[in-house]
Amino acid sequence: RTGVRVERLPLARFTTLGVGGEAEVWFAANHAQLAEAIEAPYRVLGGGSNLVIADAGVPERVVRLTGELAGRDLEPDPALSTDTEIVTGWVGGGVPLPGLIRTLQKLGLSGLEGTVGIPAQVGGAVWMNAGTRYGEMFDGLHTVEIVTPQGTRQVTPDDLEWGYRQSGIARGEVVSRVRLRLTRSTPEAVLEKMTHADEARKGQPKMKTPGCAFKNPGGVSAGKLMDEAGLKSTRVGAAMIAPEHANFIVNLGGASAADVHALLDLARERVGVPMELEYELWP
Ligand code: FAD
Ligand code: EPU
Repeated sequence: RTGVRVERLPLARFTTLGVGGEAEVWFAANHAQLAEAIEAPYRVLGGGSNLVIADAGVPERVVRLTGELAGRDLEPDPALSTDTEIVTGWVGGGVPLPGLIRTLQKLGLSGLEGTVGIPAQVGGAVWMNAGTRYGEMFDGLHTVEIVTPQGTRQVTPDDLEWGYRQSGIARGEVVSRVRLRLTRSTPEAVLEKMTHADEARKGQPKMKTPGCAFKNPGGVSAGKLMDEAGLKSTRVGAAMIAPEHANFIVNLGGASAADVHALLDLARERVGVPMELEYELWP
């Protein structure tokens, strides 16, 4: 009806871990296509940088935002911008976050630079309020547009119960696009702030991984706890707890989702302190 492109594809290629079997992928390039894509059970796929997908794939439709929903208008809205602050036009949920962060730095716009190095899409990063010690997505949001099978609504951060690695947006609600609220600064000053956040990443592994496995319990580094439990370099099949940082599981090549699950179970058992999973396991 809407001309939405649908293809059966291996999901591994859409994830940073490089694991995951096939599913029907619906490439939604505008609001009408997105509405059609979510008429039947679905999951939303962003940058695939927080996912461990089963080797058998998933039975639901997998929706990916492209086209208009991956476009961006960073022009300051004159009605909402001042000498110190700007509000942008719409930035699609499918926009890759790293490129956006680089562009904002060049424009001297400050607010999101603390998220440098997070290989997400804007929608996925907003959905879980991705961040670092230097800042998070909700530092730079003005409006979030949320699409569900029941309809579309636009909310502000004040309307949501967001916090550490959570936005208050329900699973399955699609972050279709956002408007950013940013402070006018200079490219040099923004770059300086980015450098600190970048430094903090030096000790993270460079191999295929979906980022940190567990959220930090009570502000304590889960990686430190796992390290102290002697888990670094532990292997199951082709998955390994990174020798560089114990909260990262890496794919040595040909890992299965079951290998990763086994390492997660082992880590929970050895650490003893309850740790909430940060990854999402599909299904
Ligand atoms: P996906 O992995 O594709 O999906 C994750 C969840 O978001 C799923 O529930 C999915 O349905 C949902 N989702 C995706 N897109 C949308 C959308 N448009 N609307 C609604 N829901 C959506 N995270 C941090 O917070 N801080 C870090 O410092 C950090 N460093 C990382 C470093 C590396 C090397 C890697 C691989 C990952 C890192 N991560 C980090 C984890 C990951 O980048 C974040 O969790 C990110 O928010 C995931 O976004 P994504 O677009 O890749 O989502
Ligand atoms: N540490 C160890 N051993 C380890 C890992 C860490 O001793 O194996 C120690 C470090 O030496 C340091 C402390 O623990 O003293 C904190 O480590 P780090 O700076 O790496 O921070 P983290 O709390 O482990 C968090 C985020 C990362 C984010 C970094 C940098 C979580 C779960 N993790 O890690 O986010 O990139 O800070 O800001 O909040 C992610 O969420 O996926 C992620 C990668």
